[in-house]
Amino acid sequence: MLNIIPNKKNIGAEIVGNIKKFSKKDINRIKLALNKFGMIYFRRQNLTSKNYLTFASNFGKLANYPRLKGLSKKYSKITVVERKSTDKGPSFGEQFHTDSIYTKKPPRFTMLLSKLVPKKGKANTDFCSQYFAYKELPNSIRKKLKKIQAIYSSEGPISITTKERVKEKGKGLKELKSMHKIIRKISSKYSIYFSPGHFVRFSPNIEDENKLKKFLFNHQVKKKFQYSLRWEKNQLAIWDNRSMLHQATPFKGSRIMHRITVK
Ligand SMILES: [Fe+2]
Repeated sequence: MLNIIPNKKNIGAEIVGNIKKFSKKDINRIKLALNKFGMIYFRRQNLTSKNYLTFASNFGKLANYPRLKGLSKKYSKITVVERKSTDKGPSFGEQFHTDSIYTKKPPRFTMLLSKLVPKKGKANTDFCSQYFAYKELPNSIRKKLKKIQAIYSSEGPISITTKERVKEKGKGLKELKSMHKIIRKISSKYSIYFSPGHFVRFSPNIEDENKLKKFLFNHQVKKKFQYSLRWEKNQLAIWDNRSMLHQATPFKGSRIMHRITVK
């Protein structure tokens, strides 16, 4: 049994129910909700790592995240996103982006399960619907974007936050680069697939690159396309990286999230 409660403006939705008890039919409804709202979240879920993996497997093949260490040998698909109160500088993912766009096949979905969080409302994740952003693109820009692609790098502007973590874990990583279409069709809807945090250049090169880049950046993160998710302990969120940008809001204090990505 479950209940779907859309957020204001239909950007994301809360699903009320017990993850450990969902039937096949429930899972199908959840998948449809994820597709429709771009992000879904469940509060008050007491999950073991095994429960978490089992639930995640419903959404597809689980991916390895090359940039963070796994929780353990047994649970290598769960990575730990941790912010300590003593950490300086920005948090992991503190700028609007879509996950791992610098790889050939970025994960479709990302999940976070909160294990330790600061006070509610103090360390949100902001989401930005790219379905809505596409809907409000002028026709001339849509046409232009459909003809070009963009190149992204793991060393893009957002990477500074990853570097801190990597340094700590001592993993040597080389730069990853990839190219993707900017306008994507997901089921029957169009979305803008463009990650400011990783952008390098358009392909082919275009004359007014800077102008277009700035316009897109500003347009796709407009407040009216956004929803800010407030975390509490034992909350699970899933989002579709093809239709949602996300960012961590700056905060002080400690936070531990268990992350899974789905191919
Ligand atoms: Fe992210």
